[in-house]
Amino acid sequence: MELPRVTDARGNLTFIEGGEHVPFDIARVYYLYDVPGGEFRGGHAHRELEQLIVAAAGSFDVVVSDGVSTERFFLNRSYYGLYVPRMVWRELEDFSSGSVCLVLASQRYDEGDYYRDHDEFVAARAAAELA
Ligand code: TYD
Repeated sequence: MELPRVTDARGNLTFIEGGEHVPFDIARVYYLYDVPGGEFRGGHAHRELEQLIVAAAGSFDVVVSDGVSTERFFLNRSYYGLYVPRMVWRELEDFSSGSVCLVLASQRYDEGDYYRDHDEFVAARAAAELA
């Protein structure tokens, strides 16, 4: 999603309003930083949670999967966000030095909302497709 940009010689500004620039109310913000080279984050899906992922600084890849097909997104602009709906497996990797991954989330933290086992996620997606 392209986010609003107020460009200015003094430095640029981007803002995100819940329900306006992301299709959900924002209940939580968190960010990943100081990620060592070669490390990856994520490796899970959410039952209900929706997120917008922004490379607030630097760059990284987000690999998303519905259990059948996989797509890789390279994020390197602070005015683009990747919207990740519920029931999508995500992995974040190839973080550049000094990068900051900003995440806006539709719900507060709830470990019960996670699928952390990939096989369990794929089975749940398949069951949902059949239902
Ligand atoms: P996790 O979501 O697995 O991190 P990532 O997907 O970015 O690799 O969370 C890592 C740990 O941090 C886990 O123990 C739960 C905790 N955590 C919170 O307490 N609150 C939060 O909002 C988040 C995102 C994680």
